[in-house]
Parts: sequence; structure tokens; C-alpha cells
Amino acid sequence: MNKKTDFTESQIAILKETEQYVSGLLSNESTGHDWHHIERVRSMARFLAQSEKGDSFIIEMAALLHDVDDPKITQSGDSHRVQDFLSRLGLDPATQDTINEIIDSLSFSSNLQGKKETRIEGKIVQDADRLDALGAIGIARTFAYGGRKNRLIYDGSTDDQSSVAHFYQKLFLLKDLMNTNTASKIATERTLFMRQYMEQFLKEWNLSIDLNKEVSK
Ligand code: NI
Repeated sequence: MNKKTDFTESQIAILKETEQYVSGLLSNESTGHDWHHIERVRSMARFLAQSEKGDSFIIEMAALLHDVDDPKITQSGDSHRVQDFLSRLGLDPATQDTINEIIDSLSFSSNLQGKKETRIEGKIVQDADRLDALGAIGIARTFAYGGRKNRLIYDGSTDDQSSVAHFYQKLFLLKDLMNTNTASKIATERTLFMRQYMEQFLKEWNLSIDLNKEVSK
């Protein structure tokens, strides 16, 4: 079990309400950003916070809400569900702003444009979210997302729009973008596993091409 946190009664109630809100929204989500992803990110963020510290309540709230306005899910670049939800909860404005800012800077693409998490709470949640894009689960999520977007599994090039290309264009780069040392260690292990997976994948792919040449001789 997780060690006891020092949440107040009202924080516990708010976290429960947030869980219900997010699980209701994302339980049937099929691009790999479902409620189980949120739970994994939250647990990983808790784990990272053990060594990195930070405000546990902010970390948990940001982890729970981090994908609610993601354009991958909402299909719109202009969704304010988090903001609306937070103001309905009646949290103090400073806490609302902090959670909003963290979520805003969170996505991989916004970070590539130079937007960085500056608070430790944001760094932790960002690392936890990125770690869930790696390893065995990362592989599953990549192909699930690709399928949902009508992408090919592979197109014979790592420079294309396929799911396999995504490993080379984004996923293998993530381990060098981790904010915390703990996440960086986990990312290195998970990336190694993905590299091994990709090696086997390409071996099988190329073998089938060779066999095909044999057959057509
Ligand atoms: Ni996420």
C-alpha cells in the first residue's frame, strides 16, 4: 500500500471527486489515454515524489487531470474542461492557477517548442506521463494510438508516419528529456527494452522480405 499522505479531509474529498470526473470522461478512451493510463501516471508521480518531494496534492491533481484537455482526446485545441472543473471545485485561485499551468506545459509537443515545466510538481507529473510512453506499455499504447489514427504499423522506413517511425521520431528521444534522476533511470531501462523489441521487429520484417525474394525467384 502507498504510505500515508498528509492530505486534509477536504483534499481527500476533492481528489475523490476528481477521480470520478476523470474516470467518467476517460474510461472508454481508446487512444491509450484511458483511465488506466491516468492511474499509472498518478502512481508513478507518487513514487517519484518520494525522492523528489513537491506538494502531493498539486501532483495528484495535475496527474489526474493532465489529459482531460489534450487535443488528442478532445479533438480541439481550445478545450477548457480542467479550468471549468477546478473552478467548480472552489479551490483557491492560486492552487487552480498552479494546476492549470502545470497541465498547460505538460505535453511533449509544447515542450519541444521550448515550454518547460519549472515547478517540481510539474516536472514529476511530466516525467510520470513520459514514462508511460515507454517500455512494454509504451509499445502497446503506440500501436493502439496508431491504429486509432489509421496509421500503418510500419512502412519500411523510420522516416514515415507509421507507428514504428514514432519510436524513432519521439519515443527513443524521451529518455534524454526526463527532469528527475529517478525517472531518467527508469526511462533508460524501458528504452533499452524498446530497442530490443524494435531489433526483433525489424529482424522479422526483413526476414519476411528476404523470404519473399526467395519465393519469387
Ligand atoms: Ni498522459
